[in-house]
Amino acid sequence: MANELYSHLRTFSEADWLAAAEELQPEIHAVDQDAVRIWFRFYPLDLRLHLEQQEDRAEAERILGLQGSYMLEDSLDTSAHFLYGYRYWPQAKAAVNEHAGSFSADAKASLVDLIKAVGAAIAKKAGAEQKLTNAIAAVALATFNQVGAEEFAKTKGDAAKPSREMSGSPQSIVAAREKDASQGIFGFLKTVDKKFEVKYAAPGYSGKFEVYDDQEITHAAGQDRSRDWKSLDKRCWQGPIPIECTAAACGTCWVGVLGGKEKLDPVKRRERYNVKLQGYHQPDEERPYLRLACQARAHGNVTLVIPPWNGVFGKQIYHDVEEVTLDPVTTAAKHLRETIAAGAKDTPEEPED
Ligand code: FES
Repeated sequence: MANELYSHLRTFSEADWLAAAEELQPEIHAVDQDAVRIWFRFYPLDLRLHLEQQEDRAEAERILGLQGSYMLEDSLDTSAHFLYGYRYWPQAKAAVNEHAGSFSADAKASLVDLIKAVGAAIAKKAGAEQKLTNAIAAVALATFNQVGAEEFAKTKGDAAKPSREMSGSPQSIVAAREKDASQGIFGFLKTVDKKFEVKYAAPGYSGKFEVYDDQEITHAAGQDRSRDWKSLDKRCWQGPIPIECTAAACGTCWVGVLGGKEKLDPVKRRERYNVKLQGYHQPDEERPYLRLACQARAHGNVTLVIPPWNGVFGKQIYHDVEEVTLDPVTTAAKHLRETIAAGAKDTPEEPED
């Protein structure tokens, strides 16, 4: 018999989940407000539903140019690694499983009410403030919705202990993300050689690298030759951030900005347009929490989270993208575009910046 909670959750669209995550913002601690928004962009329900409906799944994935680890099953207990509330992941899984066992669809609960009920249960189990558990409650319920009751219950939800900055209090994490690198006692005299710090977390690795004022993030990441990045993620040709075209075209370098989004250049037309084509749902703000790292220039410290996959699916999934012509950049990017073009027929003009 289908689980009633699962059946009920399946009645909500991706737009409903995004709206619920927005409505809950005042009841989520600042440390996880953008983090939960980013999680919902990293794991779009509509892409999942589209893939579920395909007879030839491998061909559908090829057409959408999907690369990396994009199925939540592959990161069931790790996808929320960048949320403060991830430390409560075992309690979150237990709370959702208990809810699934007793839920009656007759109650017709709204998404927000369901998330808050699970958030309260996690807070009680963990002895934590509910403002620190609502975000992870939303992620746990959305994960349950995507993978199903059986898959969700397969593991207890062991989560790695928070390390470095993330082991601090929520207030100290927010403060650390807002801080800028010291330029020394004569720093106020510096004009061209100001250096800042980019901290990043990806599934399985994290660290930091230096960035010069007004330098593109991926360019700075490429200077970090401290390890064989490709052994961690084969999309990492240079440095810890996956890249391909470095021209806003392929979407490989998309990142979530957990701190310092106001210290990045405003989004230009090219990035705005191509991100829509890529399907990443970048918020319509000057300096949003979702960026293409090859287009974002830093003017201060930033904290990033790197998703484990990329693709170009805006046109096929959301049907709200105008036609576009993509200029060839590198052989690999050209190949990727040709693959995507095979699934999307006509090609219109790309705006100039
Ligand atoms: S590397 Fe292709 S969009 Fe940034």
